[in-house]
Amino acid sequence: MKFFLDTANVDEIRECLSLGVVDGITTNPSLISKTGRSFDEVAKEICELVDGPVSLEVVSTESIGMIKEARKLVTIAPNVVVKLPTTKEGLKALKVLSNEGIHVNMTLIFQVLQALLAARNGASYVSPFVGRIDDIGGDGMGLISDITAIYEQYGFQTEILVASVRSPKHVVEAALLGADVVTLPPSVLDKLIQHPLTDSGLEKFLADWHKRKERMGM
Ligand code: E4P
Repeated sequence: MKFFLDTANVDEIRECLSLGVVDGITTNPSLISKTGRSFDEVAKEICELVDGPVSLEVVSTESIGMIKEARKLVTIAPNVVVKLPTTKEGLKALKVLSNEGIHVNMTLIFQVLQALLAARNGASYVSPFVGRIDDIGGDGMGLISDITAIYEQYGFQTEILVASVRSPKHVVEAALLGADVVTLPPSVLDKLIQHPLTDSGLEKFLADWHKRKERMGM
C-alpha cells in the first residue's frame, strides 16, 4: 500500500518526506487556501520536492473549464495528477483528459457507482472520502470494500486512494482491504509510528544502561 500526504504545507511535506515512506501528495482547494500562498508557487514547490504523484484540483465546475485548467496544471511538472470532482461535468472532462494520456484523480467519491463510472472513463485514481462518510453515520470502509470487489470483478486498473482518513484504524482497515493508496494528514502519519509501550520500553532500556555505566564507574 502506498502512502500519500494530504497537505499543501511545504514544511510538513519536507518533514514527513524524511521518514522515507511518503510516495505522493494530495491537495485540494481548502488545503491550498490554508497555506495563504499563491497556488502556482505552492504547486511548483511541492512538485519539485516530491518524486511521486502530486494531485492538484481544478476549481471549474463545467467540463470545458475543467479541461482547460487541467491542461494548464500538467505543464507545472511531469508528476502532476489532475483532481476532478466526481460530477457529470467531471466525468465528461475525465473522458477527454484520459484520452489525452493525462492522469486524473476523481475526488469527492461517496458511493460505489461513482467509482465504477470513473474507472470506466479511465481514471488513474478514485478518492472515496471515508472519514466524511463515517462523520454522518455511514460506513466509509464498506465503500472501500465494495469498490475493491467491483474493480477486481472487471479487472479495472484504477487505483483506490482512500481519502479523508481520520485515524490509524482507517489505515489498518484500508490495508486489510488491499487499497492501493491511503492519503494521510501529517498528524495521522505521526500516530502510525507511536506506541506507549515503545516509549516506556525505550525509557527503561536507557535507564538500565545509565545505571550500568554508574555501577562500572564509567
Ligand atoms: C483527499 O484528497 C482530500 O484532500 C482529503 O482527504 C479530504 O479530507 P477531509 O475530509 O479531512 O477534508
